[in-house]
Amino acid sequence: MRFEVGDLASLPEAKGLRFEIGDHRVAVFRVGEEVFAIGDRCSHAEASLSEGEVWVSDCTVECPRHGAEFDLRTGEALSLPATRPVPTYPVTIEDGSVYLTLEEV
Ligand code: FES
Repeated sequence: MRFEVGDLASLPEAKGLRFEIGDHRVAVFRVGEEVFAIGDRCSHAEASLSEGEVWVSDCTVECPRHGAEFDLRTGEALSLPATRPVPTYPVTIEDGSVYLTLEEV
C-alpha cells in the first residue's frame, strides 16, 4: 500500500513527523532532498523516535528517552541502550510528492 506523506517542500528539515497507518507507527524525516522513514517506536523501550534529535551529518536520530542513536537509512541501532534495529520503509519522491510504501496495513 502506498501512502502520500505530503510535498517534499512542506516537510520540515531534520525534524521528525509521526504517522499512524493501520498497525504501523512511522517516523518520517527529511534530510536535505532525501526523506527517510523508520519505525517510530524505539526498540529499547517506549519512546517516539519522531521526537528525537536528528543529526544531519550522520543521518541519524537520537532517541529522546535514553539517547540511543539509529541510522535513518538502515534502522540500525548504533549505540546503547538500544541493540535491535527498527524497521525501515521505502520512500519514493515523485513530482515533489513523498510516498511511503507499506507492505501490510
Ligand atoms: S527508549 Fe529509546 S533508548 Fe531507551
